[in-house]
Amino acid sequence: MFVQINDLHFSYKGAHEETIKGFSISITKGEIVSLLGDSGSGKSTILRLIAGLEMPNQGVVVVNDCVCCDDCQFMPPEDRGVGMVFQDYALFPHMTVEKNIRFGLHKLNRKERNARVEEMLALVNLTEFRHRYPYELSGGQQQRVALARALAPKPALLILDEPFSNLDTSLQHRIRDDLRRLLKQTGTTTIFVTHDEEDAEALADRIVYLGEGKIKKQIMTENNKTFNPQIPCFV
Ligand SMILES: Nc1ncnc2c1ncn2[C@@H]1O[C@H](COP(=O)(O)OP(=O)(O)O)[C@@H](O)[C@H]1O
Ligand SMILES: [Mg+2]
Repeated sequence: MFVQINDLHFSYKGAHEETIKGFSISITKGEIVSLLGDSGSGKSTILRLIAGLEMPNQGVVVVNDCVCCDDCQFMPPEDRGVGMVFQDYALFPHMTVEKNIRFGLHKLNRKERNARVEEMLALVNLTEFRHRYPYELSGGQQQRVALARALAPKPALLILDEPFSNLDTSLQHRIRDDLRRLLKQTGTTTIFVTHDEEDAEALADRIVYLGEGKIKKQIMTENNKTFNPQIPCFV
């Protein structure tokens, strides 16, 4: 399996009970999985464990044949090939759109880096906004910058934590369709966290229901039947 997570357990310091109580999942390459659960059910904690921002009590996380953590090892976040988009986008306020996207590309040479930035700007349809700062952009545009920045280093796995929660409803509906198209176009394996069932149904190939720190049930959505790679994103 492209992503394999086995029996993940985690408790915050000082907590009486484990927040994550044996979370396991297998994800195929290019699949979009929604993790759906109530507030406080442990969704963000699971993403933080996958990203390497927290260390599990026990459990195994493997992404693209790379053992991110198991009983003997813990790989730091920057080596995991995991791209992240947070609820508040966390853009660098003192950097333009272009510089925000360029940020994670230090492993490429200058020519490759320039080409990749152009490609990402075009992908999220922000080429003409390249010299703007985050405060000069709408919420939807900021979200597209955050996505472009996360996708630019070609992460093996993209994780998104409630990325629509700061958008108004009409924008949210438009963007989630575009986002699905973009993720399928780029073949990006994705875990998308939400508390909104409609978001999960619109975006994911599979919905995983989380409750009390583990999986309650899983369903496949109808989305794969309707994907059309010819339709461009964010126009
Ligand atoms: N840094 C922290 N320290 C202690 N407890 C935390 C911390 N972050 C989250 N929690 C607790 O862990 C549980 C799961 O939180 P979280 O993963 O953020 O849930 P969700 O993203 O599903 O809303 C909650 O009960 C929350 O209060
Ligand atoms: Mg959360």
